[in-house]
Amino acid sequence: MFLYQQNDRYFAMIAEGLEDIGAEELKQLGARNLRATYRGLYFEADRTALYRINYQSRLVSRVLAPLAAFGCREPQVLYRQARQIPWREIFGVTERFAVFANLVNSQMRHSRYAALCVKDAIVDSFRQETGERPDVERIEPDVWVGVFIENNHAVISLDTSGGPLHRRGYRRRALEAPMQETIAAAVIRLSEWDGEIPLVDPFCGSGTLLAEALMHACRIPAGYLRRRFGFEFLPDFDARRWREVKETAERRIRPLAEGRIAGSDISAEAVACAAENLRRLPYGEKVQLERIDARHRRDLAGKVIVCNPPYGIRLGKRTSLPAFYQSLGDFLKRRCAGARAFIYFGDRSLIGHLGLRPAWKKPLRAGGLDGRLAAFELYEGSRQDSAEAQREGQQDRRRKGPEGKKKRPSSPLPLRRGLAAGGERLSDG
Ligand SMILES: C[S@@+](CC[C@H](N)C(=O)[O-])C[C@H]1O[C@@H](n2cnc3c(N)ncnc32)[C@H](O)[C@@H]1O
Repeated sequence: MFLYQQNDRYFAMIAEGLEDIGAEELKQLGARNLRATYRGLYFEADRTALYRINYQSRLVSRVLAPLAAFGCREPQVLYRQARQIPWREIFGVTERFAVFANLVNSQMRHSRYAALCVKDAIVDSFRQETGERPDVERIEPDVWVGVFIENNHAVISLDTSGGPLHRRGYRRRALEAPMQETIAAAVIRLSEWDGEIPLVDPFCGSGTLLAEALMHACRIPAGYLRRRFGFEFLPDFDARRWREVKETAERRIRPLAEGRIAGSDISAEAVACAAENLRRLPYGEKVQLERIDARHRRDLAGKVIVCNPPYGIRLGKRTSLPAFYQSLGDFLKRRCAGARAFIYFGDRSLIGHLGLRPAWKKPLRAGGLDGRLAAFELYEGSRQDSAEAQREGQQDRRRKGPEGKKKRPSSPLPLRRGLAAGGERLSDG
């Protein structure tokens, strides 16, 4: 019997900063006894909930089913224990597999070497029992095996997701600096957008935020376009139950109301790419797209704005960015009265250049970026002179270091989700 079968306990991997809203989401999908840890969530689930979580979670990266756990200080132990796992109960020689490893506070130092030990154990185990071996495939394997060693305690797991869940399948073509889908989904969730007020991404790039907003509004399961899940390899996989989970979720899909989601970009190529990606999803053709400089839009007042403007790291235009953000801030103040804006900054040092006081900020780190999501209420009469705000921001940063001074939200309308979900509360100032 594998470890997960003894206790119905699983582990969800999640980007740093999303643990709190991830726990909330897993609970809604049927997880029990949740415990959050750094970039992860331990939880219990029956098979229905496990399938549902894999199919519908928009925030978690992978869900692991532990096969075996043991004390481990050296490679020989890792190999020996991995060799004892009855791999043939999980997959056959024709399936291609990959092993990934994470080590924290471990006497074994190299994750690649740990992965290699387990790979060798799997290959040797098959060879001994069948005379043949399965192939390793690093990019698109059929089966993913995870090794996690923390404080010299090892867990070997099957990835029940069958590869990162952020690979939704709608983005076959990406441009520079695309957002990770799970982070885009987090932005939509943290915005508390209910699908009623029109939502716009005026820097849509390949359309990730638009696609996640569409999936949210139309209740399209996050895994709708995925062809296979890792849980299908579990020895107790129940195909009938999986079909029920899938059909139940798909019955809830609903159309997109006219004019509810729109996006634009200054680049024609980006607009074409977003259109192509969105068309892969139901009702994707209903998302209105156009090519326009964001600062020339005159239809954003009163709407929900979500965006991830250029931040330079990969775009290589860093020098003009402060001026660009200043003009964006002026545009938001002058032309977007009554809107709520949720702006993801790939480079947090750019926030101050907007010259607007965020209601809250939340660190969202993924793909090597130390990003921040900042929420702004652009209500009328709240205009703050941008030069003044920027001066204030600079003084704050000098006083308090890179995050700047925490302030009370400027808005009379609290943006509760971000605060409740661990956003940085802005104290009196
Ligand atoms: C960081 S990328 C957005 C990535 C997008 N979230 C995705 O997942 O693909 C920034 C985008 O802003 C666009 N952009 C730059 N300046 C702009 C402007 N003035 N108005 C509108 N779009 C602009 C770029 O063409 C690029 O597609």
